[in-house]
Amino acid sequence: MTEQAPYRLYLREDQIPTQWYNLRADMPEKPEPLRLPDGRVAEAADLAPVFCDELVRQELDDAAPYFDIPDPVREMYRIYRPSPLCRAYNLERALGTPAKIYYKFEGNNTSGSHKLNSAIAQAYYAKAQDLDGITTETGAGQWGTALAEASAHFGLNLDVFMVKCSYEQKPFRRNIMETFGANVTPSPSNTTEIGRKMLSERPDSSGSLGTAISEAVERALNIPQNKGRYTLGSVLNQVALHQSVIGLESYAALRELGEYPDVVVGCAGGGSNLAGLIAPFMRDKLRGSRPDTRFVAVEPASCPSLTRGRFAYDFADTGRTCPMAKMYTLGNGFLPSPDHAGGLRYHGMSPIVSKLKHDGFLDAVAVKQTDVFAAAVEFARLETILPAPESAHAIYQAMEEARACKEANEEKTILFCLTGTGYFDMKAYDAYNKGVLGDYEPTDEELAVGFASIPRIEGL
Ligand SMILES: Cc1ncc(COP(=O)(O)O)c(C=O)c1O
Repeated sequence: MTEQAPYRLYLREDQIPTQWYNLRADMPEKPEPLRLPDGRVAEAADLAPVFCDELVRQELDDAAPYFDIPDPVREMYRIYRPSPLCRAYNLERALGTPAKIYYKFEGNNTSGSHKLNSAIAQAYYAKAQDLDGITTETGAGQWGTALAEASAHFGLNLDVFMVKCSYEQKPFRRNIMETFGANVTPSPSNTTEIGRKMLSERPDSSGSLGTAISEAVERALNIPQNKGRYTLGSVLNQVALHQSVIGLESYAALRELGEYPDVVVGCAGGGSNLAGLIAPFMRDKLRGSRPDTRFVAVEPASCPSLTRGRFAYDFADTGRTCPMAKMYTLGNGFLPSPDHAGGLRYHGMSPIVSKLKHDGFLDAVAVKQTDVFAAAVEFARLETILPAPESAHAIYQAMEEARACKEANEEKTILFCLTGTGYFDMKAYDAYNKGVLGDYEPTDEELAVGFASIPRIEGL
């Protein structure tokens, strides 16, 4: 027993990283730059009205390998970091696999997900710039919750535009955000010009992240005296940078155990936990010291940007007011099915993750919602954590990898990120338990509607 790795390995507080790692610095080909609607490469001055100055710097820097984590951010990380690296012994036994399954548990904080890692950083930089308030969008509500906590801590006003179907399905998430002092509006709303336009075109719209982003940006630009900025919980390079704490801690913990993963698995919505988890392991692959590590992104079959999307410049938002990113995208006009309960509903994907996939460094799979919930339930019963449906995409794939090891009798080491807990997703669990949760895969014709919204830019 004593020779076994512990169920949960906690690093010491003084092992919390002091710097974030910027994977772009080691990428042989960098992600394409952000561009403005006229095709011009976005510069710091173009982004400064929307994002905090320091976040703009982080966003645009492809070269610096490390960024110092400011003391007040690291101080707040100490409330819940280092997060535990867990060994899924019970799951391994149940699967009868020779594989070793490790998961980094990021739901072990009061916001319930990894989103707090970037929320703290973004709120801190807003306060440091002496802003009055920040705005954002949220889908399932995890990002909004994390940002509400961080904003309360640093004393900032926060306006959250919450995708309407989640606002209605998850009132408790809204209640938490409000408890932390945030102002939450269902999107599309009639409180912004872009929201009113969306509503006039589709009065019954259940909303999308793309629309909520447009509303949040508009609101930020209208905060008086240039004292407001917009924040985004995923997709952007700066968010991937902040989330590198997940990978850096996993790397250090595995090293204490004398382990190194053969396969690294992450769920992919906008790509931030995945980019953060894989960062130091991908660095080793890119530098050639660990060329054989496999990386797998897991996305829902109902919103399959990496597996069925186009690698193209597209707008980050449906209102087409934000800069364009080169990414795998289903088109800014893509509307995911409201029946899709498992999160991960964004039309695009992190430019870093997209580029790694495009250049052959990372694989992607799309999985069915009912399979994801089956994996979530099995995991919950064995490992005693109720996973967020988003996280359960990674669980499903980690189990598939472990089953393949059983078939091949290979003792591989598998690492995945358990990004959050699912205590506010009980409607979806209830539907699954009652056997009424469905599966939905868009047809090629349905995807073509979204693709038609991707801008055509000569030469790009
Ligand atoms: C618990 C949880 N996991 C994963 C994700 C996916 O986001 P990302 O791909 O940015 O990590 C979300 C996003 O909404 C989430 O709430």
